Amino acid sequence: MSPKSAALFQPLTLSGVTLPNRIGVSPMCMYGATNGHAADMHLIHLGRFAMGGAGLVLVEATAIEPRGRISHHDLGLWADSHIAPLRRIADALRAEGTVPGIQLAHAGRRASVREPWRAGAPLDETDAAAGSPPWQTVAPSAVEPGPGWPRPRALTAAEIRTSIDEWAAAARRAVEAGFDVVELHGAHGYLLHQFVSPLSNLRDDEWGGDDERRLRYPLEVVRAVRAEIGDRALLYRVSSIDGPEGGRRIEETVAFAHRLRAEGVDLVDASSGGLSTDRSRDLRVRRTFGYHADFSRSVREAGAGPVATTGYIVDAEQAAMLVENGDTDLLLLGREMLDDPNWPQHARRRLDAEEAAHWHPRFGSAIVPRLGSLQRLVERGEGPLARFGR
Ligand SMILES: Cc1cc2nc3c(=O)[nH]c(=O)nc-3n(C[C@H](O)[C@H](O)[C@H](O)COP(=O)(O)O)c2cc1C
Repeated sequence: MSPKSAALFQPLTLSGVTLPNRIGVSPMCMYGATNGHAADMHLIHLGRFAMGGAGLVLVEATAIEPRGRISHHDLGLWADSHIAPLRRIADALRAEGTVPGIQLAHAGRRASVREPWRAGAPLDETDAAAGSPPWQTVAPSAVEPGPGWPRPRALTAAEIRTSIDEWAAAARRAVEAGFDVVELHGAHGYLLHQFVSPLSNLRDDEWGGDDERRLRYPLEVVRAVRAEIGDRALLYRVSSIDGPEGGRRIEETVAFAHRLRAEGVDLVDASSGGLSTDRSRDLRVRRTFGYHADFSRSVREAGAGPVATTGYIVDAEQAAMLVENGDTDLLLLGREMLDDPNWPQHARRRLDAEEAAHWHPRFGSAIVPRLGSLQRLVERGEGPLARFGR
């Protein structure tokens, strides 16, 4: 293996789980579930990444209760009937050499919306007429995420307790479905994030009122989930900054990361933003290559354990350097993987890192010898357009 690629293809052990390399697939909602149940589409979509050499595949945001779905078509784990179709996916991913993981989520006040290709807007009576009615959203406080959004109902203290049990029950089902990694979606303005931020949590009871009480819900959720998953790996996705002015800053996230670690989180996954749907108030992190790497680095350097970064990781050398230079321990690629599910293998080719040994043999035995044949043709001056005189 070439020295520059060594870090990228090192295993990473988190609790009792070892990822074979540092390339993971970030969770991505596909809006293709029926009443929370996974479909063949999910198996095919996620299976591509396993065969392409990813070390970890995280199944998209999966709701812990029906009200916590972003849309009518999100995956769920609030009922035992969700387990079997997800188990089929976890088993298939493992059989093809990757570690299967799943992200558990509750959208809170950002639930009840249309798919992104229908602008992700809140559902209304036109959707109801078409058979997809909106539902009453819930949140720590009755504050809309932005103009034009319905007002959520504040959860009662009793509902908060029930909700913690629902996270734990979903985690138990994730284990039953065969997942080795559970990620909690604590970012992007969804319920866990709503509890943490002073902009969305205006409570003045044991679940809000000061920093300590705002952290209580996520920390209790972590504790309850940790107790269910044994030595499987627990990841927590944070919004490193809230987004809107006056929101939480990276210094507060670093302190939170220490608390998460103390409750049994194995890795903090640094994303950002999403608290407000009002783009004009949002101090969005500028989208540049590796745009969350400063945040993951801050958490890592503060000694809050291993971290992941996500966002515009597109190039093999960039990815290798992010790990090697200590910006991150794990890379979570999203859209780049949708574009090229064989990205990890192509990264091996670029970095001269034992590509042949790591292809799935069914693919590798066909692809790798052909690379040599094609190379010899090119060396003889025969390009693919030679028959057209070019
Ligand atoms: C179609 C799509 C769906 C997404 N769904 C989720 C999700 O379910 N949970 C989550 O934490 N992030 C979600 N994200 C964010 C991605 O996981 C990822 O962090 C982000 O796209 C940045 O990485 P990229 O530049 O490699 O795409 C989604 C992104 C896309 C494009």
